[in-house]
Amino acid sequence: MIRCHIEPLGIFVEIEEGETLHAGLEKSGIHIETPCGGNGTCGACRVWVSPPEKISSTPHENILPEDDVKGLRLACRTFPMEDISIRLGDNFIHDKADRSQGKILLHATLSGTIAFNPAATVTKDGDSFKLWYDRVSEPILLEDARPSFTPVGLAVDIGTTTVVVCLVSLVTGEILGTASSLNPQVIHGHDVLTRILYSKTREGLEEMASLIRNKLNSLTRELCLSLNTRQEEIVDGVIGANTTMLQLAAQMESASIGRSPFTFDIRGGTLYPAGFFGLNGNKAAKIYLPPILHAYVGTDISAGLLVCPDFFDNDKTILFIDMGTNGEICLNVKGRHYTTSTAAGPAFEGMGVSSGMRATDGAVEKVEIRDAFFQFHTINNGPIKGICGSGMVDLIAALLTSGYLDVSGRLLKKDDPFIVQFNDHLAFQYGDGIYLTQKDIRQIQLAKGAVRTGMDLIMEAGGIGCEDLDKIYVAGGFGNYLQPVHMERIGLIPKNTASKIMFCGNTSVAGSIALLVNKDRRAFLESALKKMTYLQLAESKAFMGCFLKNLDFSPEF
Ligand code: FES
Repeated sequence: MIRCHIEPLGIFVEIEEGETLHAGLEKSGIHIETPCGGNGTCGACRVWVSPPEKISSTPHENILPEDDVKGLRLACRTFPMEDISIRLGDNFIHDKADRSQGKILLHATLSGTIAFNPAATVTKDGDSFKLWYDRVSEPILLEDARPSFTPVGLAVDIGTTTVVVCLVSLVTGEILGTASSLNPQVIHGHDVLTRILYSKTREGLEEMASLIRNKLNSLTRELCLSLNTRQEEIVDGVIGANTTMLQLAAQMESASIGRSPFTFDIRGGTLYPAGFFGLNGNKAAKIYLPPILHAYVGTDISAGLLVCPDFFDNDKTILFIDMGTNGEICLNVKGRHYTTSTAAGPAFEGMGVSSGMRATDGAVEKVEIRDAFFQFHTINNGPIKGICGSGMVDLIAALLTSGYLDVSGRLLKKDDPFIVQFNDHLAFQYGDGIYLTQKDIRQIQLAKGAVRTGMDLIMEAGGIGCEDLDKIYVAGGFGNYLQPVHMERIGLIPKNTASKIMFCGNTSVAGSIALLVNKDRRAFLESALKKMTYLQLAESKAFMGCFLKNLDFSPEF
């Protein structure tokens, strides 16, 4: 075993000989982001090693020669042979250090307006307890009940990037606690298609299933321990997730999701035994899956709609966008419902761009121009370490306003001190070793173009213009920090719609909680979404023209 001292965590981790540094850290609960699945291509898994001469170089365009000498290496290509020290950047999540995220997201979205009427209730019958479950005619005798039994429910959000679990009292409806982590499947790729590809073999599928199952169970176990709750008391659960994440958690072959006509086997609006997803809890526990709208619009979206207060109002016209690696969009036109999805890529999540990072300490989250000077605001006011999605939107808007960027996305002002050469291309430098390169700008254009095209075409299908919209809900953790005027400035949303934006955070987990605490919401959702029309963007004749137009950063349309 090789001992690695890990900074800034201040802990030691043991790594087996022949194992990559990335794999060894992963086993210890330190998840480094690996958008390319550890292929050595994306450069996102960079770490500093010391002393540098003990570890061979890992050549990559994101590692400058002077940084190579100082010990910058790709974790997915590094094989420690003797004891070393590692310094991690901001590209990791440590299981034990990231307990609060889900709570913050939840508090931002769930306003406590859902009436308490849970699907699962427990009654005492002499010395034993009976579990009554909505849609199950006979009660279930709980075998291992002790003198007291306090039923709890589990709300789960399996995101492509992040996983959140939340324990909810089924006696009071109170949210007892939450825990979150990076989805460990990221080691095999950042997007759903890469994961589908990896799971094509039986071994690959088993590994994908066990990665997510183990993660959900360990988060739940730790949460139960910290709350003094027995896992046997978990009798109900709801999972919000995209269709691929659901199928992989259920260990179902998923290749058909990745190719036309995009079919899938998992069913929404249905109860499953918890064991179907490998989840630990009471033996009798069930999992409810909200309706699945399409192979690319899963239960995270249907559950999420439930907590956007007036989305289903028959007198209103409302757009809902969940901006993650995939952008899912829903539209209600006075009772007519449409949905679509678009591959936005990871740029808005701070990944796949050279100085991109998640929204953690030191990430630029806001950029302003004051008295002709750029002002960069970082999370917790630390020195600039990189930039997260909201900062990226702000920065692009600021560069457009100040003439550093033209609407086609080309960097200008070649004789300006902010503009430098980086790997033979122009880049805007705004910190020590912090750049926005021309290549990064192209990534952002692709993401923005994809989301905006989805919005334009879904409104066209609904027969409305943006002036008809009463409201635009923006979901996704990243959405909370965006400035609507800057979204409009870069053309991410249509002209004159900034005032209609409402951010609603992680609606997937908030919606799952709503479905745990109120069984009537399940029936309502199933009925409301029965006539949802899915718009296949790629089959639309207007798609390519619209997408090409939307690559520009023009605020004029
Ligand atoms: S280069 Fe290591 S994960 Fe992409």
